Amino acid sequence: MSAKQDVSNHALTGLKAINEIYQIFALTPSSQFALPQFLQLILQTAVRLTRAQYGALGVFDATGTHLIQFLTVGIDEATRQEIGRLPSGQGLLGHLVHEESVLRLKDLTKHSRALGFPPHHPPMKTFLGVSIRAHGRIFGRLYLTEKQEADEFTEIDMEVVKSLAIQSGTAIENGTLFQEIRAAEDKYRLLLQSTTDGIFGIDRQSRITFANQAALKQLGYTADELMNQPAHELLCHAKPNSSVYSASECPILESARDGRGHPNATEIFYCKDGISIPVEFTSTPMMEQNEVVGSVVVFRDISDRQRAMTALRESQQRFQQLAENIEEVFWLTDPEKNDMIYVSPAYQQIWGRSCESLYTSPRSWLEAIHPIDRNRVEGALSRQASGAYDEEYQVVRPDGSTRWIWDRAFPIRDDQGKVYRIAGLAADISNRKELERQLLQSQKMEAIGQLTGGIAHDFNNMLTVINNYSEMLLDEINPNNISQRAEAESIKEAGEKAAVLTRQLLAFSRRQVFEVKVLDLNEIVSNVLTFLRRLIGEDISLKVCLAPTLGCIKADLAQIEQAIINLVVNARDAMPGGGLLTIETQDVELDSIYAQQHIAVTPGRYVMLAVSDTGCGMDAKTKARIFEPFFTTKTVGKGTGLGLSTVYGVVKQSRGNIWVYSEQGKGSIFKIYLPEVKEQVEPTCADPVSPENLRGSETILVVEDEKLVLTVARAILERYGYTVLVAHDTDEALRLAQDGSRLIHLLLTDTIMPKMNGPELAVRIISMRPKIKVLFLSGYMDNALLAVIELKPGIAFLQKPFTQVDLSRKVREVLDKPQPR
Ligand SMILES: Nc1ncnc2c1ncn2[C@@H]1O[C@H](COP(=O)(O)OP(=O)(O)OP(=O)(O)O)[C@@H](O)[C@H]1O
Ligand SMILES: [Mg+2]
Repeated sequence: MSAKQDVSNHALTGLKAINEIYQIFALTPSSQFALPQFLQLILQTAVRLTRAQYGALGVFDATGTHLIQFLTVGIDEATRQEIGRLPSGQGLLGHLVHEESVLRLKDLTKHSRALGFPPHHPPMKTFLGVSIRAHGRIFGRLYLTEKQEADEFTEIDMEVVKSLAIQSGTAIENGTLFQEIRAAEDKYRLLLQSTTDGIFGIDRQSRITFANQAALKQLGYTADELMNQPAHELLCHAKPNSSVYSASECPILESARDGRGHPNATEIFYCKDGISIPVEFTSTPMMEQNEVVGSVVVFRDISDRQRAMTALRESQQRFQQLAENIEEVFWLTDPEKNDMIYVSPAYQQIWGRSCESLYTSPRSWLEAIHPIDRNRVEGALSRQASGAYDEEYQVVRPDGSTRWIWDRAFPIRDDQGKVYRIAGLAADISNRKELERQLLQSQKMEAIGQLTGGIAHDFNNMLTVINNYSEMLLDEINPNNISQRAEAESIKEAGEKAAVLTRQLLAFSRRQVFEVKVLDLNEIVSNVLTFLRRLIGEDISLKVCLAPTLGCIKADLAQIEQAIINLVVNARDAMPGGGLLTIETQDVELDSIYAQQHIAVTPGRYVMLAVSDTGCGMDAKTKARIFEPFFTTKTVGKGTGLGLSTVYGVVKQSRGNIWVYSEQGKGSIFKIYLPEVKEQVEPTCADPVSPENLRGSETILVVEDEKLVLTVARAILERYGYTVLVAHDTDEALRLAQDGSRLIHLLLTDTIMPKMNGPELAVRIISMRPKIKVLFLSGYMDNALLAVIELKPGIAFLQKPFTQVDLSRKVREVLDKPQPR
């Protein structure tokens, strides 16, 4: 072969090689998956073009120490694996990679760094190696050995291999970059899809460019349905209160337009099915090379949160409504820290202290407890480890007034059973306590009343006998027998005193026989005024304020007069150094609230009589006992202690109430309330029968189980000229009444008898003798009699003990009265 021919052969080989390399370039992979095949192709091409016997191509990992791909040509698999496992960077190949980019050797065994190939590597002499690089980064190396039919690789071989190595480098670099991008993309996709927050992006025209799974799920769209749709019109155009706003106001669009971010905003998004959901969102502008290209919206459905918030708000509201509107104090403490956590506003009302004062000094409620109760309450507080207690105590308010409290505490435990809160309820029970006091008082009065009433009843019978016989005795004793007369007079006097006393006792026990009439209280006061003036003396001024118009009452005139006198006398006695005594009358309406606070008061219209003084007043202890019979603070002989008990009895018997307000050193006011009646005052009956007309000749049936009283009555009536039939009991009386042979004009009967009471007997006898008149004799007002009085207000009574004159006058009165029927 000529030299010319040789050159042209070489050129041809080179051209072929170039051609083939170009073809390979065209195959540079666009995806990493094709990279190994491409590298294999490169290696095979290199081996073929250079006519090498063996070839190898290794790709390093990122650290440059381990091969991640190792391809060979002409070497069996076992050897390939062995070689591939060798650490790189040593020996000849290390030298190739780190120091030279190309190495062409005639005999590699002669090279100073010839070591490093494994023993199983096929024998080699000629060597052509290049490092694989791109943009200064080393990716691996490619080497060929044992050029066939030549003792050295040619320069063309070298150029061919170099350009193949460059192409490999580019392909590997591409592959690596591609992989990196793909990994980053995967990461972001994963991030985007795994978050529960909805995320979507829009471009500058507000068109949706992407949406993650959570966004699709919450909004109910598929990705296709959303893509390229206008976000404002479709999703976000309403404020949290559902008011719609225009695109120019849309914060999301603003981010895409002007690059202004909106963190943590709230509004309403619309879902595909038209339902709106409250959301919290952040819109962030998307930038590319300092240009706003759109915005990303990250949102979260906050319906649950809003529901929870609403529920919480409602529960708080409910608690507040409850705690702030109940009349009781509701409180909550932390026992460990001794902190007051909550106290309801009622505390202010009841304790008269601010809630704030209790928060700052949590023991101030305890310090307000009345000294009488404080030790006991403190004891109760410390006794129970749980903090539970149930106590009643009084508190002293800053203005000095007191309130009764019923306070209960309940422990609240955590999961371990440890008490970590104490809740309590403190109620103002002052009203109840006052009612209890009033009830106790009235029960006491009732008991004393029964006792005194019982005694007085028996006394009256005895006094009727004593007083009348002593009177008769006096009539019969010779006026000249002075000493005998004096003795009889003493008996009479003592009897009369005893009668007064029993009358007072009866009045108190509400058993006084009384005659109910419709009365005008103003008239009564006016009538006794002159007498009262005399009674109180010069040093005391009397002021009388009578209501210009006043309702009527129904009561016994004498009783009411007596009550007024007793009150005025007491007021006088309370002002030994003089003062002002006021008598006042007034119409009042006692409402249900008043009735709730005062025992035994029925709501309605009342007529009030008030007697007030500017005297000594009384302390609480005295006040508690003033209505008891025989309770007096006056010296012996000065007072009997029956004045107020009489008043009490009279008022109660008239279905009224009496209340006292008194302050020591300032004075007292007694208020009597008597039920107002609709009826008008009856004209007082004509002149009473005068003593001259007391005699009579009619027949009277006297019924009385007390023998001595019966005898006295009979004696008196016979003295006055009457014919008297006597009966010891009701059977006898009925028998006598049945006997139609004689006319009986009047039935004079006791009211309380063993078998049948007076009113019942009267009914029976009247049925037999319709014209008969009836006069009841009673020392004692019992219920049966009361019932009769209620039914027939005009019915006649005579109270025991009676005198001769009392009896004969009453008998005459009844007999002379025209028949009502
Ligand atoms: N206006 C008053 N001011 C101060 N204390 C009074 C007044 N009225 C009554 N009291 C007190 O009530 C007590 C009882 O009164 P009550 O009228 O029942 O009896 P008394 O006045 O002591 O005696 P009596 O009325 O039988 O002569 C009196 O002793 C007095 O202590
Ligand atoms: Mg008195």
